[in-house]
Amino acid sequence: MARPDPADVARVTCVGAGVIGGGWAAHFLARGYDVTVWDPAPDAEPRLRRLVEAAWPALTQLGLAPGADPARLKVAPTLEEACAEAEFVQESAPEKLELKRDLLARLDAATPPGVVVASSTSGYPMTDMQTTAADPGRLVVGHPFNPPYLIPLVEVVGGERTDPEAVAWAARFYEAAGKSVLTMDRELPGFVANRLQEALWREALHMVANGEATVRDIDASITEGPGLRWAFMGPCLTFALAGGEGGMAHMLDHFGESLKSPWTRLEAPELDRKLYDGMVDGCAEAAAGRSHADLVAERDQGVIDVLRATGRLPEPPRRSAG
Ligand SMILES: NC(=O)c1ccc[n+]([C@@H]2O[C@H](COP(=O)([O-])OP(=O)(O)OC[C@H]3O[C@@H](n4cnc5c(N)ncnc54)[C@H](O)[C@@H]3O)[C@@H](O)[C@H]2O)c1
Repeated sequence: MARPDPADVARVTCVGAGVIGGGWAAHFLARGYDVTVWDPAPDAEPRLRRLVEAAWPALTQLGLAPGADPARLKVAPTLEEACAEAEFVQESAPEKLELKRDLLARLDAATPPGVVVASSTSGYPMTDMQTTAADPGRLVVGHPFNPPYLIPLVEVVGGERTDPEAVAWAARFYEAAGKSVLTMDRELPGFVANRLQEALWREALHMVANGEATVRDIDASITEGPGLRWAFMGPCLTFALAGGEGGMAHMLDHFGESLKSPWTRLEAPELDRKLYDGMVDGCAEAAAGRSHADLVAERDQGVIDVLRATGRLPEPPRRSAG
């Protein structure tokens, strides 16, 4: 069993280096870890380096750990080499069940015994992914939000065959790595936050499919409306305030009956060509000439400003990891 103390981890491996794996790599680099990455795509390394470079100004504003340096990013030629000395592995490969199953079994075989391997999956229960691994006990879900280098939340949960100690270890590790951890004691489809996001996302797709609202209207309805409250107070306490001095009890007495009104259409709409084009063209229109890099920079600055304004800028790490 080569599981170090969570606060002593120095070497982290990220497998899959797309939007999320690359974001994790940027986060761990900024917190002073040595980061090794493996991704089978031929263009993965330049993509990853572009992502880390684009994230670094935001990470610098947040406060880098002593010794944090993008030069401590290593790209390994094989999965086995990437994992050989890992003290923690974060898997962020495409969201396909068979692929995750095989990959987690390979990661388990290649990683020193006992070291925790976490999956970034957005929705698969670990129980369904850990079926072929020799040591399923060390496999956990560590579900991040995009970008993992700025959004603090990680949802941590094990599968039926996960050792609860591995779940507890992962939670302590993520905390040591500067994340806000929500540990779940059971597997929920979509975990907590994605379940909530999915409800909004489905409604947005219905409204575009039916021509009821544009992409721009939908986005503005959140950024100019409830999104401002949600950055510091969740939907439940926010609604308790909507009940005035009577709080949640008054809110439920007042609006309880309308809970059943058919405002929502929670079944997903058919993703036909018209809806597909409506979403893609609507997003291009909403971007109003801003490039992907412009939007990433705008989002990163926005998140930092919100964290600062609500007194939640993370404490900069005082020492290098390890
Ligand atoms: N995009 C999000 O907002 C988001 C948020 C939270 C969690 N996630 C989860 O993170 C994971 C990755 O999603 P993403 O959005 O970064 O996808 P992505 O398509 O941006 O990146 C996937 C990366 O995996 C690589 N890859 C392909 N086959 C692989 C294999 N066999 N082994 C290792 N790597 C492989 C690809 O080359 C690519 O670089 C998924 O499980 C997804 O559900 C995504």
